[in-house]
Amino acid sequence: MSLPRPRFHLAPARNWMNDPNGLVHTGGRWHAFFQYNPAGNDWGNMSWGHASSPDLLHWEEHPVALAHRPGEQIFSGSVVAGPGDALTAFYTSAYAHGIQAQSRATSLDGGLTWTPDAANPVLDRDSSDFRDPKVVALPGGGWLMLAVEAVERRVVFYASDDLESWRETGSFGPLGPTGVVWECPDLVRLPVEGSDAAAWVLLLSTNPVGDAPDPAGSAMHYVVGDLVGDVFRADEDVLLPVDHGRDFYAGVTFHDAPGGAAVMLAWMNNWRYAHAVPTAPWRGAMSLPRTLGLRRIAGALRLVQHPVLPAAPDATPLPEAGIDPHALIEIRRDPADTGILRIRLDGEADAAVEIVHDPTARTLTVSRTGEAAQTLHPDFAGARVAPLLEAGVAVFTIVLDGPLLEVFADRGATVLSHLVTLGAGHVAVRATSEGAEAPAVRIVGLDNAQEGR
Ligand code: FRU
Repeated sequence: MSLPRPRFHLAPARNWMNDPNGLVHTGGRWHAFFQYNPAGNDWGNMSWGHASSPDLLHWEEHPVALAHRPGEQIFSGSVVAGPGDALTAFYTSAYAHGIQAQSRATSLDGGLTWTPDAANPVLDRDSSDFRDPKVVALPGGGWLMLAVEAVERRVVFYASDDLESWRETGSFGPLGPTGVVWECPDLVRLPVEGSDAAAWVLLLSTNPVGDAPDPAGSAMHYVVGDLVGDVFRADEDVLLPVDHGRDFYAGVTFHDAPGGAAVMLAWMNNWRYAHAVPTAPWRGAMSLPRTLGLRRIAGALRLVQHPVLPAAPDATPLPEAGIDPHALIEIRRDPADTGILRIRLDGEADAAVEIVHDPTARTLTVSRTGEAAQTLHPDFAGARVAPLLEAGVAVFTIVLDGPLLEVFADRGATVLSHLVTLGAGHVAVRATSEGAEAPAVRIVGLDNAQEGR
């Protein structure tokens, strides 16, 4: 089976893509760079691909921005606006001799072409796992760079006034599960809903090392805390899940988003089986952009994510024949209802996705089943269970765009993102409830978004 292209998510026309890099809003457009193989749809020859969008939903792809060279691959990193009219990129030079160090490049044409510094690499610790620099503007002026010592499970911090000279200020970690590397850190200041308060949040991706048995594979986490002396300090040393699905990794936010918003994109995939995802000539897609915030739930600050969605045309009644696999499905049920709700999406052959809401256990379970899911990879099929955090809310927003499924619950506090193998044909949607009241189902076709290409 070959899976269809998404229509309103960022995916390259051809070849391999992984992490979002250098997300920046500049010149009135959203620019996304990304880990890209210009020569094929497997990981390799890592370079920065480039696309831009007026609205985060219609993407136009541009020529490769930073190309690999003999002996040097261009790994993940970030872009900031400045100095002056220039854009400055920081990225990891992954050298063939095994060292990873941070390099810098400048663009004077809004991000289309880049000139690497003659002095590269600009930060070298003689480490083989020092990567993924994310530069953030400090509210009081100046810049902070976060990068990982991936195997040590540490985020290292550097401060600069001019994007030129960097001073190491400290590190955060290790903590949480062992047997993983830390990758792609980000630091965002997020508003707390319904108050004037805000807090610093560290975003972090973790991936199991080698062939260690860990069917969960790649995952993204966050930690709430503060910035003390230009180093992040956790309120509580625990990594909380950003997304309960299997396919949400390496997420970072845009620099300079309008209104200071924190808008995140992540690679909707999992290193466990990314190489086996049956798409061609492209492979890899980004999540929907999500605006981040914090909400106080049961005394703790929790991350909330609100997707940027295409404008929804009129809702269609639940069609018997099935819907195109590019749709918004919104389910509302009576919050007092205690019956189990099952939402089933049936695609090609026996491919199906089941979403089960158990109000008593307060869980939301998403499973992908059928032969296409079984054969993709031994760890692909199966169920993920997310604990629901809020009582008295029973609205589920399900966004399907070809192979990408994102489920938002708890008003954005619980999210599950999955690749699915429903195929390109019609998808039958059925919602059955053991509850007293049938749930209200609203389906909106979302097939508007290709004109921008
Ligand atoms: C995360 C990652 C980064 C690295 C890049 C290489 O998915 O492993 O740590 O910079 O991918 O493509």
